[in-house]
Amino acid sequence: MNILGIESSCDETSAAVLCDGRVCSNVVSSQRCHTVFGGVVPELASREHERLIVSIAEAAITEANITKNELDVIAATAGPGLIGAIMVGLCFAQGMAYGLGVPFVPVNHIEAHMFSPFISDTADHHAPEEPFVSLTVSGGHTLLSVIAPDLSYEVIGRTLDDAAGEAFDKTGKMLGLPYPAGPVIDRLAAQGDPTFHDFPRALTSQSQSSKSYRGNFDFSFSGLKTSVLTWLQKQSPEFIATHLPDIAASIQSAIVRVLVEKTIGAARSRGIRAISIAGGVSANSSLRKRMREACDKNGITLYLPGAIYSTDNAAMIATLAGLKISKGMRAEQRYNVAPYASFAAGSRKG
Ligand code: KG4
Ligand code: ZN
Repeated sequence: MNILGIESSCDETSAAVLCDGRVCSNVVSSQRCHTVFGGVVPELASREHERLIVSIAEAAITEANITKNELDVIAATAGPGLIGAIMVGLCFAQGMAYGLGVPFVPVNHIEAHMFSPFISDTADHHAPEEPFVSLTVSGGHTLLSVIAPDLSYEVIGRTLDDAAGEAFDKTGKMLGLPYPAGPVIDRLAAQGDPTFHDFPRALTSQSQSSKSYRGNFDFSFSGLKTSVLTWLQKQSPEFIATHLPDIAASIQSAIVRVLVEKTIGAARSRGIRAISIAGGVSANSSLRKRMREACDKNGITLYLPGAIYSTDNAAMIATLAGLKISKGMRAEQRYNVAPYASFAAGSRKG
């Protein structure tokens, strides 16, 4: 079965082809036009998707060595994300499915991140067969979920305010870094001292009494943002410029330590022996390293999608569509764009 996946929820235009469960192509174009604005401009994003979508889809089909007439299913992100941006990919995919007379499968973008350990692009790829705790950390979402082998899942924690990616992007903006600041902080932090300044870590065992902390898998990053802002206001521009790597490393450490502690805590409290991390922030080198160390220490298997599958990509959209089809989900003929996150379909809580 050949599945074409389309992703256009934010500032990546992407198309991928999945041939019998294996990724045969995954073409991603990241929009650069937003950098000068310090964040994604929705209207510019929609126009850029519109400009690129046909050529990106054609490139993915050509790279997969098939023709469009050999496609069996077309899938696209239906939400959450920027409404205009989603509509470009969704309408393109639905129109193409209609034209080719093949089924269309709408996909929830965040669920696609959650299920990214199932993305297979090599013969020796191992997908989780046991229940696993998924930490999904993107620009707009921070979710802890427990995913069962039948693909049903339970959301057990989420951010109460800012997402982890937002914490990177907004504190980076305060430091004068370009958008998206996450990868820039990652690079700067590699040369810095993470103990340079102790920024707060909210809702952790350190910040709360053990009684109120136990079983609390929610996150909060807005306090960190305020703390970074007020601390920076007290420093001179020269001091900030001199210690930029140290400040970046300290901010990164505050975010990463919370993510690791909560994820390991969730797995241990549920007696689960596997963890995956997904979403753009899972590309962070310190998060990958610290989560690996914590998993090794606790005898937990860690599933880490390749870096290209951490940030937005269409391979995850095609993969989740394939998983849904294999579980007998009925393909819908029409689907409306859903800009806000909804996890009602598979989630028992959250
Ligand atoms: O999943 P994603 O590509 O798009 C959304 O669905 O939001 O995530 C984008 C987020 C941005 O906040 C970006 O700064 C962050 O992922 N990010 C990183 C890194 N690479 C991307 N954050 C920290 N370290 C990185 N290496
Ligand atoms: Zn994403």
